[in-house]
Amino acid sequence: MEKLLSHIAHLEIASPDVEASAEFYEKHFGLRIVDRIDGAVYLRCWGDHYRYSLVVREGAAPALTRMAWRTQSAEALEVAAARVQESGIEGTWVDSGNGHGRAFEFVGPFGHPVRLLWELERFEAESEFASIYPDRPEKRSSHAAAPRFLDHVTIASTDVDGFAEWHRDVLGFRLMARTQLDDTNVSVFSVLTTNEKSHDLGVVLDHSTTPGRVNHIAFWVDTHEELLITADVLMENGTPMEHGPGVHGIGEQQYLYFREPSGLRVELNSGGYRNYVPDWEANTWTPSAGGSNFYRNAPIPDSIFQSFPAANGLTATEEGIHPDMYAALVIS
Ligand SMILES: [Fe+2]
Repeated sequence: MEKLLSHIAHLEIASPDVEASAEFYEKHFGLRIVDRIDGAVYLRCWGDHYRYSLVVREGAAPALTRMAWRTQSAEALEVAAARVQESGIEGTWVDSGNGHGRAFEFVGPFGHPVRLLWELERFEAESEFASIYPDRPEKRSSHAAAPRFLDHVTIASTDVDGFAEWHRDVLGFRLMARTQLDDTNVSVFSVLTTNEKSHDLGVVLDHSTTPGRVNHIAFWVDTHEELLITADVLMENGTPMEHGPGVHGIGEQQYLYFREPSGLRVELNSGGYRNYVPDWEANTWTPSAGGSNFYRNAPIPDSIFQSFPAANGLTATEEGIHPDMYAALVIS
């Protein structure tokens, strides 16, 4: 299959208090508000090449309301749309609005709203934000905790392997790794990528009956030192670390997790490897192999079993599943 998707372009999330969320991302996490349209707040990281990477909209509960992927070309957008429809999923062509072009939108096989698009508005900094370096869309943020760009999203699905295989077979994602429980062949976590990054799409097993949930959204900093400074800045300003800083086994990124005011989980990553192998075959990890924690010495807290919106069931992590899930998923 020709390469269809290039990378993640932006995410839209719901928050019960848009202003509280937007203020947090701007004042404490160093993103910048670039637009306010019809109640939605558009934010960008200083290194995002497109106008925005995060849209916060009013919603009853924290949720992922859209994940947008840029295709490899205008032709690839047509091919990708056709392949989605051939898979039995109906979509619609829309005008993205706010500077972006025609897009194909659909709800994925596990309930996640997806936008595919080619035409995006490149960001051009106002003079006060213009960088002295030609390749930077704007100057480095002067905020100590500012991520460089949007990195990935990890969603929840009732069938981790089915989710991964659909995205591989229909849209050409590479399946990079999966985690199965030590004593069963139940897949609880998987990572996929559109490019050389270890992943730009993750999936955790969902034991609820609510489709389309999200576990976390993630941003990137260039260095481990910046990640540690971000943890420091957030702690000093009242945002606890939910997990980390630490190092993942799968992907080998440094990580930290925290919650924004809506309760939605946000991750920050740095480091990790690049993988260019076109016919990579995903290895199967087990929780005891350190998929989540490279050093195998810091268990994930139970709070990470929560995905969004809250529902009648928990989700898995790279380290496995909550005991409440075990009986239903493994014993039955
Ligand atoms: Fe992640």
